[in-house]
Amino acid sequence: MKRKIHIVGNWKMNQTLASIKTFFTEFNETCAKYNNCNMWIAPQFIHIPYLQELARTRNLVKVGGQNCSHVNSGAFTGDVSAASLKDMGADFVIIGHSERRAFFQEKDEILNTKTINALNAGLKVIFCVGETLEEREADKTKAIIKGQIDKGLAKIPSNKIKDVIVAYEPVWAIGTGKNATPEQAQEVHKFIRGHINSTLKWNSDELIILYGGSVKPSNIDELLDCQDIDGALVGGASLVAADYDKLCASGNRK
Ligand code: PGA
Repeated sequence: MKRKIHIVGNWKMNQTLASIKTFFTEFNETCAKYNNCNMWIAPQFIHIPYLQELARTRNLVKVGGQNCSHVNSGAFTGDVSAASLKDMGADFVIIGHSERRAFFQEKDEILNTKTINALNAGLKVIFCVGETLEEREADKTKAIIKGQIDKGLAKIPSNKIKDVIVAYEPVWAIGTGKNATPEQAQEVHKFIRGHINSTLKWNSDELIILYGGSVKPSNIDELLDCQDIDGALVGGASLVAADYDKLCASGNRK
């Protein structure tokens, strides 16, 4: 039995009030049909309440953050805490996206603290891992991912393991239009599931592992057909209601 498919839209620093309104005017028409697929969207923090208000089907569409602080309160100008996200009604948070790692120098240790803090605040965490093109070409993909998992997912309280989702996002595939082939993605997903089982000693049969990197309506089916791919973390194609709709329709069929 395949695990339930999750289609997660990562809107990054995009959308306006007007475009969010248009998105839900279109998407609300159809999404109630997709009760076999978990539909999640992470807008900019400031748009979370508006998105919740517009998603008439908000019982079906879960809303989350793209990042959070490593602490819950205090003198951290500009930061947003996991506790505040939870307070606003967010269900999940994305941690360790490669753009956070590259542009904000977020290292494994801080990502581990953020993850534990977010889980303790009651959020689900989508923890991102992935290799750069140079690392893949140097045959270091598995070693890089192993390091990111071992450090980033260390010391997770055992009662919170069920709230962790892993997203494999090869950095070279993000926003480039160049996705990993289903074979390349499946190989890494299988490795992640096995490694988490043997090293962290989690029962990873139930672990949701998302693929991310140039997922679009034309390639999602072949990715979701893979045994260890349980959904997608989608940037560009999640911004347009018609495309996000098609992705969720595919997720619903699997
Ligand atoms: P993309 O982004 O779908 O635009 O490649 C994916 C991501 O960054 O999560």
